[in-house]
Amino acid sequence: MRSPAAGRTRPRRRRAGSVVARSARRSRMRRVTRVGEVRRAIARWRAAGERIAFVPTMGAIHAGHLSLVGRARATADRVVASIFVNPLQFGAGEDYERYPRPVRADRSAFAAAGVDLLWEPSASAIYPAGDATRVRVERLTAGLEGAARPGHFEGVTTVVMRLLNAVQPDVLWLGQKDAQQARVIEQMVSDLQLPVRVRRGATVREADGLALSSRNRYLKDGEREQAAALSRGLRDARARLEAGERSARRLAAVVRRAWRGRPAVREEYVAIVDAATLEPVRTVQRRVLVAVAARVGSARLIDNFEWEPR
Ligand code: PAJ
Repeated sequence: MRSPAAGRTRPRRRRAGSVVARSARRSRMRRVTRVGEVRRAIARWRAAGERIAFVPTMGAIHAGHLSLVGRARATADRVVASIFVNPLQFGAGEDYERYPRPVRADRSAFAAAGVDLLWEPSASAIYPAGDATRVRVERLTAGLEGAARPGHFEGVTTVVMRLLNAVQPDVLWLGQKDAQQARVIEQMVSDLQLPVRVRRGATVREADGLALSSRNRYLKDGEREQAAALSRGLRDARARLEAGERSARRLAAVVRRAWRGRPAVREEYVAIVDAATLEPVRTVQRRVLVAVAARVGSARLIDNFEWEPR
């Protein structure tokens, strides 16, 4: 029989070693601001043959962002995240100025989640003086958020193109929460033949279904409860799809019923569109995106799900 000590020593040492290695990596999150620093850090990892995953954000980090970091860690050796509240994607009168910027909490959250490199560019690093280049994806940006927020997606694709160009990741992680954004970026990556794989992470929700969003911080007490109507409406529509309903008009009515008698919810749209083209459908025959947007108090919230007939 092996002595208990001999039996324990090796595994324990090995375990301790890997724990130290992992926690050391975690606490070693590097923060950089300049594009050159990003490129140099990543070049070293690339030279060592490491795979890079990238999670771009605007900060006010929540469990939805962190779930993307988790997926990123599982698909790559190194995780790069960025925090940049991109002025170009906010319209006049939108919340650019008051967008939450809890910088210190964001850094700790990313460090604890295992981000290796956090890029916090200044506006002038992304948009140098005299800058004149924009990236615009057509058609897919015409409806839904594109219609409600003119110029928004041009701001998104322009910044994501610049971020991608600096990081040049193997994998780009985006959230299903912003389904149209994900679809538009996928199209840009495909049209410009960028050598990056785009992947989507599932929407992370509160216990009552409310999709996590940096903008949920704008909700006042009574509004917070009413905001859950968006996800309830979507859940009801999904149940009707499962039960065989195929009429977009009737499905939209099911979604809307969820905020009847909830005056804080002011609907902007309920849309049932083809998940690939984002064109409205009358009858569900292929994969669809069911998307809603509403104002609740001073917050503008969006949510969605995708569904495909079997
Ligand atoms: P932001 O709203 O900070 O979101 C960053 C990423 O997190 C996006 O891919 C978004 O879809 C994802 N995300 C947000 N809420 C989520 C949730 N509840 N569950 C899962 N993922 C969620 O989207 C942007 O920033 C910007 O437009 C950006 C792409 C960074 C360009 O400026």
